[in-house]
Amino acid sequence: NVAQRVEQLLAQMTLEEKVGQLNQLSGKEFTGPATDKVRSMEAEIRSGHVGSMLNIKGVADTRRLQALALQSRLRIPLLFGLDVIHGYQTVFPVPLGESASWDLEAIEESARIAAREAAASGIHWTFAPMVDVGRDPRWGRVMEGAGEDSYLGARIAEARVRGFQGARLGGVESVMATAKHFAGYGASVAGRDYNAVDMSDQQLHETYLPPFKAALDAGAATFMNAFNTLNGIPATGHAGLQRDILKGAWGFKGFVVSDWGSVREMVVHGYADDLADAAAKALNAGSDMDMESNAFSSSLVAQVRAGKVALAQVDDAVRRVLTKKFELGLFDDPYRFSSAAREQAALSDPRHAQAARRVAAKSIVLLKNEGGALPLRRGLRSIAVVGPLADARRDLEGGWIVKSNADKMASLVDAVREAAGPGTRVSYAPGCDVACRGANGFEAALRAARDADTVVLAVGESWDMSGEAKSRADIKLPGRQDELFAALRAIGKTPVVVVMAGRPLIFERLAEEAPAILYAWFPGSEGGRAVADVLFGDVTPSAKLPMTFPRNMGQVPISYQQYETGRPVRDVNNIVYKSAYIDSPNTPRYAFGHGLSYTSFGYRDLRLSSNSMRADGKITLSFTLANTGKRAGAEVAQLYLRDPVASVVRPVKELKGFQRIALQPGEQRQVSFTIDRETLSFFDRKLAWTAEPGKFELMVGSASDDIRLRQTIELAP
Ligand code: IFM
Repeated sequence: NVAQRVEQLLAQMTLEEKVGQLNQLSGKEFTGPATDKVRSMEAEIRSGHVGSMLNIKGVADTRRLQALALQSRLRIPLLFGLDVIHGYQTVFPVPLGESASWDLEAIEESARIAAREAAASGIHWTFAPMVDVGRDPRWGRVMEGAGEDSYLGARIAEARVRGFQGARLGGVESVMATAKHFAGYGASVAGRDYNAVDMSDQQLHETYLPPFKAALDAGAATFMNAFNTLNGIPATGHAGLQRDILKGAWGFKGFVVSDWGSVREMVVHGYADDLADAAAKALNAGSDMDMESNAFSSSLVAQVRAGKVALAQVDDAVRRVLTKKFELGLFDDPYRFSSAAREQAALSDPRHAQAARRVAAKSIVLLKNEGGALPLRRGLRSIAVVGPLADARRDLEGGWIVKSNADKMASLVDAVREAAGPGTRVSYAPGCDVACRGANGFEAALRAARDADTVVLAVGESWDMSGEAKSRADIKLPGRQDELFAALRAIGKTPVVVVMAGRPLIFERLAEEAPAILYAWFPGSEGGRAVADVLFGDVTPSAKLPMTFPRNMGQVPISYQQYETGRPVRDVNNIVYKSAYIDSPNTPRYAFGHGLSYTSFGYRDLRLSSNSMRADGKITLSFTLANTGKRAGAEVAQLYLRDPVASVVRPVKELKGFQRIALQPGEQRQVSFTIDRETLSFFDRKLAWTAEPGKFELMVGSASDDIRLRQTIELAP
């Protein structure tokens, strides 16, 4: 049994070897020439001073380095970790985009495929999913998460963990998942990456921690801590988070890896005197493995000998790491993940690309569609596809990819050509680049548009504008892209718009004046075709926004989950001494949960199994959902709750359930949600989850600002 084998091994290890297991090095250098640094890293691995490597991939390299580790005294294999964030070889939409599908099966399938490809290439462990809630679109890393909501985020966290890890850790088509970044990273002040975080216990427990808890309950093997300070303490040195909550109250049995250099950065924060002090503070606070700070490897042995770190704490960390190595089966066969045959089969499986196209099409949000501008008719004489992202390939993939497939991908223009068929002439001109430096290309785009029956304008961010360290002080459509839109409009060729980006953008002119807008995010390696599928109506859009889209920068940060003020705006014509802006509405441009379809859905006949329940009871809410339009489509029905009076003021709306239901035209279905004590609970002043007796409002709708049915229930004392 694993626990016994771990203890037997631990008993044979020197302190140096133990600390070695807690040391993770980046292997980027190994792909280059054999420098002195590479030679010294190889020597470290051979002497058992490295427990894990990141940024090594592929059967050949993982085998080569594993062979070095097996030359060490105790032959302890290495763990290979990598950021497999939205695909390995096959690139799925960026995680925020994929989250817009609200399709947990599709999200799980995408993680499963990523795991299958990565595991065959020697990877044991992905640094995903990122489960940080993000409510500030200036923060570039919202791209990597599931958006602003803790309930949606928790369900998506579970799906991703299940997808990466499969039914059981140790299968050769699975990789260990990492719930990151523990915790609070998404709430960095002013949306600036790595910035400090300051929040109440209520916010932390109700909004930021639930997706982590859900990931843990789904079996996440590892956690990664974070770069930020939380209420003055670096997350990496935060015993309250790591020891009290994660390993204490939640009983986490896996291990915690630091973020890249975050142990060392505690010195820069002003929390540790030097690297040695940082190493002791991190280990003592529950960080088990040091990613790239070289703090543990350079100082932990001495810190233990000096009595600054208890040997028992080191043993606990090593035990956690070794347990995972045993569970993965690496002691039985250190090379079991590095299979040339499986790598070859997985990386060329055509089903993976088909899945990427399906998932991408499900992720594209129809923000606006006036006068039936979309879908495009087939059989048009000519279509102009213009704009800086019309022929983009690399940008379709977004950030955090393992290897670009750009040379093999279909751009949007390619895909529109394929989809429109030979009878339609498809012309293309970029108009300008994303930054739109100079207006030189406008004329060519206008020429293409003048000749066309329909114009599609593809605008947005380039792939490297969202992601880590890609905070933007202003998230409006970059450069002069909206001037390109205006120029097209001025010649009477108002285009339908496709926006590609890793975050919500502000594009007020387009939102007002374009007849139709598809928000495609960075849709992945099959993204061009997926956008064409939706443009031509081969797929009916069904995605819903996982983040609120602001109208302007002044509204940021923004979430549907606001608290009622004492001076709410009830009438937009009377905002004097109200909680309002004098120069902007309070309402967002597009609300959380918003997303249109080419068909329509009716909600009716809300029924409750009872109007009241006791704390140990349940209420079933049901209603009829009907496809009232002319096309097959899927609707994401959303359940929101409000607790109107409580001992701690509650948000005006909280998502408590959703279901994605596919219906043929004219078809209807009974949909039900169960309400129990957990649905009604919040984190109270005594820092405990509680459900207070009284009334609760239930709201069912198509978006957070499109509530169709309501009822009140009561929790009996
Ligand atoms: O996994 C990432 C993390 O999210 C940000 N810093 C670097 C890590 C490893 O690449």
